Amino acid sequence: MISLIVAYDKNRCIGSNNTIPWNLKEDMKRVKSLTTNQTILMGRKTYESIGKPLPNRINRVLTNNSDYVAEGIELFSNIDDALRNVTTEKIFIFGGSTIYEQLIDVCNEIYITEVDADINGDSYFPKLKEEEWLLISEESFKKDINNEYDYKFLYYRKKEV
Ligand SMILES: NC(=O)c1ccc[n+]([C@@H]2O[C@H](COP(=O)([O-])OP(=O)(O)OC[C@H]3O[C@@H](n4cnc5c(N)ncnc54)[C@H](OP(=O)(O)O)[C@@H]3O)[C@@H](O)[C@H]2O)c1
Repeated sequence: MISLIVAYDKNRCIGSNNTIPWNLKEDMKRVKSLTTNQTILMGRKTYESIGKPLPNRINRVLTNNSDYVAEGIELFSNIDDALRNVTTEKIFIFGGSTIYEQLIDVCNEIYITEVDADINGDSYFPKLKEEEWLLISEESFKKDINNEYDYKFLYYRKKEV
């Protein structure tokens, strides 16, 4: 199963200066619970913004740099190869923009956190082709001391054709 997980704001902004521009503890918990014991696939810039492999997950990183060295990750230079030989139930497309853009069309399901913010960022998620996706669930939450904006959890499945 190819899954995708993303948090974006009202304008589908996902990042600014190679960081995530909000603090939402519940989103971090959701990411952890969905992706633990699964495989995550990310671009080299996202990997560097995290700074280390995420524990209890198989971390796959895409780079064109054949000299890239990092411990605890599986490196790929070809996006098709990065989707092959997955040994977990799911592989999560984990960002950033370049990875989402290349792989959104091959995903079976998408977990979105929609953040009620208006960030002036530099990385964006592609526009979802709504006609291809079925909204399965939507939950709304108010900001609080651990979550600096209102937010929604959305779960979409690809429509059968
Ligand atoms: N809000 C969220 O849910 C979320 C999630 C993830 C990331 N982010 C944010 O997204 C931003 C980073 O996104 P980004 O688009 O700038 O960078 P990115 O997608 O994380 O990484 C881009 C790099 O990935 C490698 N790459 C991409 N496609 C490749 C391919 N087909 N073959 C080989 N290598 C490939 C290249 O690495 P080389 O240059 O080494 O060749 C490329 O420069 C940050 O702000 C981050 O915080 C947000």
